[in-house]
Formats: sequence, C-alpha cells, structure tokens
Amino acid sequence: MKLRKYITTCAVVSILGAALLAGCGENKDKPESAPEVSVEKTEEPSEATDEPEENKPTDASEMSLKDEYNELFTIGVAVNSWQLEDKETLDVITKDFSSFTCENEMKPDYVLDYEKTIDSDDGMPEINTENMDKIMTMAEDAGLKMRGHTLVWHSQTPEWLFHEDYDEEKDYVGRDTMLERMEAYIKKVLTFCNEKHPGTVYAWDVVNEAASDGEGLREDSPWYITIGEDYIEKAFEYARKYADKDVKLFLNDYNTEVNEKRKVLYDVVVGLHEKGLIDGFGMQSHHDREYFNVDEIRTTIMKFAQLEGLEIQLTELDMHYNDNSEDAMNEQAEAYRAIFDTLVELDKEGFANITNVTFWGLNDGTTWLTGHKKEDSYPLLFDENNEAKPCYYSIFDAVAASDKYAGIKKESE
Ligand code: G3I
Repeated sequence: MKLRKYITTCAVVSILGAALLAGCGENKDKPESAPEVSVEKTEEPSEATDEPEENKPTDASEMSLKDEYNELFTIGVAVNSWQLEDKETLDVITKDFSSFTCENEMKPDYVLDYEKTIDSDDGMPEINTENMDKIMTMAEDAGLKMRGHTLVWHSQTPEWLFHEDYDEEKDYVGRDTMLERMEAYIKKVLTFCNEKHPGTVYAWDVVNEAASDGEGLREDSPWYITIGEDYIEKAFEYARKYADKDVKLFLNDYNTEVNEKRKVLYDVVVGLHEKGLIDGFGMQSHHDREYFNVDEIRTTIMKFAQLEGLEIQLTELDMHYNDNSEDAMNEQAEAYRAIFDTLVELDKEGFANITNVTFWGLNDGTTWLTGHKKEDSYPLLFDENNEAKPCYYSIFDAVAASDKYAGIKKESE
C-alpha cells in the first residue's frame, strides 16, 4: 500500500511539480545577481546516477534526508527535550536529521535564573545550566549537533532583565548597565557551551527578529530601548569574544522574502560582515499556502550570498496548510520541492553557501502553528504518527533530480 501510494505521489509531484516551477517562472538560467563563476563539466557523473533507479529506496523507513543531502547541506529539526528522551522519537530524529534546535529551552526565558540573579555578588544576570546540560549530553549521545536559539531577542526574555534591581516595577536601566548585563549573559551561556560541551552547538542565532514588520529595525525591543540601535552589533561583538572560534554566528529573522525587510536586514548584515562579526544569515522560512513565492526565496538567497563567505541557512522551515487532504498534501509537496530545487541548484552551482535547513518541528502533531494559527495545521514532513508525508518524498527526490548540475566544479578564480 505504502509503496503504491509513494509512487502515485511521486508521479503526481514530478508532473505537477514541473508545472508549478514553470508557473513560478522558476529560472534555471543563472540568476541575474549571481556572482561571476566559470564552470567546467567533469567527466565522471555524480554518484547519484551510479545506482540504478530500481535500487533506490521507496519507503521512508529506508530513506534518510541527512544522507541524501550529505554533500550539499545538513538537515536539522526543532525539538523539545521530552522528544529526545523518547527512544522511538529519537530514532526518527537521528534517521533523517544531523542537528537540532531547541524549540524553546535555550531561550533566555528558560536559561536566565531570577533567584540566582537577585542574589548574585556582582549584580549581573545568572543562568541555570541544568536543562541545557541535559539536552547537550543527549545530543552528544545521539551524535547530533545543535543550533543555539537564541541569545538576544525581544520575546521569551524575562522583562525583569531590563529593569533597575531586576524589578519590573522600576525603570529600565541605562545603556551601560544593560550592556554589562548583555555581555554577562552571553559570556555565561557561551562559556558553559565551550567548557562543558565543546563542539556540540555549532551555530548561534545571536540576535533574533531585529527588523520590524514595517520599516527599519524593531524599535520597541527592550534591547533597542535600553541600549540603542547598536545593541545588535554589541551582541555580535560579545558573541565573537566568548564563542569558540568554530562556532558560527547568525542573524535570524522571519519574512526575509519581504522586500522592505530584506533591505533592512541586508544593511545590518553588511555592517556586521564588514567588521568580521557575522558568519551567517538565518531565513526562518515560516511559509504559508496562501502567500508562498519561491522566486522571492531565491532573490533573498542571491542577495545575501553576494557577501563573501556568508553562510545561508533556512532555520525554521515549515509550510502552513490547514487541510491535509491528499490533494492539499500533494500541492504542499510541490511547493516544498520548488524550495529544495532552488536550494540545491544555488548550492551546487556555487551561487550560494547554503549550509543547513532546519524544519521547525518534527511532525504535524507537535507544530507550534496549530496553537498560533488557531486552526489545524499540517506544515511538516511527518504526520502526527511520524509517517512520512508526500513532501518528505518530494524533498528527498530533489537531490537525484539535480544531476543536471552534477559534476559542476567551480573553477578557481
Ligand atoms: O512554558 C510554558 C508553560 O509553563 C505553560 O504551562 C504553557 C501554557 O501557557 O506555556 C508554556 O510556554 C509556551 C512555550 O511556547 C513553551 O511551550 C508559550 O505559551 C508559547 O507562546 C511558546 O510558543 C513558542 C513561540 O516561539 C513563542 O514565541 C513556540 O513553541 C515556538 O515554536 C516559537 O518559535 C519561534 C522561534 O523561537 C522564533 N521564530 C518564530 C517561531 C514561531 O513563533
């Protein structure tokens, strides 16, 4: 049954997917703003063509997204510690993903410790590392890397952090005190990771959602109010100072495909990049059936990829559908396929340094969207029983289908 369903789905996806790509005006020629590269075909075909199709697995239980994408970029997933503690769930995670992000448990709300802070000798914020320690140990035991999410954010950060005597009833502290507190927090978190779990957290969302939904930066962030516009640069300065040298520092945001926001974020990243403070740009990628546009995703990637060496990651990928009928899920598979065809093309052809795609949740039964959208949502790779959906297979197939780029080697300049 499953095999027949997969083949049907795959046939539907590949036929309709091509239509969708045509419909999206998917441009398989070199994008306008692509950096100048000269390429030469090498003789040997990629290994993807070595294995005759009939031997390729057709059931998700025998397939692995992380292995299929191994030569392109890593694949991650957002999870909670209770999922890591469940053996069956952990098996699903380790089969397809090589990294994870804590959906909530490494945010300031969950790391800062109020009681220890108000008792601290130096008056600086104190952290509770117990849960982080447990999670990072589970990551190491499972052979998984982690993305750290997040250090500086206007949300899920206790309000007391910004006030005199850590008392919300009192005024905000001044710039200098807030900078001291920011540095102390970042130093304590990153030093814990370096010393207790070196190499486990390979990247941090240093600042999350710094841009406003209108124009300019998010000026109602308590970080912005207490420190000023340069809180972003200061956060990266402290992160660079205390993170291990191999840890990659990211600016992360949502709606990065919206032109105004893209321009604001690009200007911030250019400033950080010039100072050597940033390693990557995180496109959260919370997409929706109603306003999905793969060309805007391509435009954003190509824009940021112009910055020498900058990594691009899709850090919170999901795609809201409030209908899980077969037709809707096949349509979702086409949309996800359009994203991955774009990612694979841009990465393989050397137009962008894409290093990770992280799905914001393991399955449709645990997605944040159901609560957030106030309606059912079916945004992820697996259904609530961890059964792979059509989008799992369509994403898996994007690599083999990219053989037209196979063997392209970027000639050294
Ligand atoms: O921990 C409390 C718990 O004690 C309480 O009983 C329960 C019921 O009120 O709430 C729990 O907190 C919830 C928390 O998730 C942990 O489950 C919060 O209410 C809820 O608002 C929070 O939602 C998270 C959301 O960020 C908050 O903004 C989602 O799980 C999480 O997926 C989502 O993730 C964000 C990224 O960090 C940044 N990008 C956007 C993305 C989606 O909003």
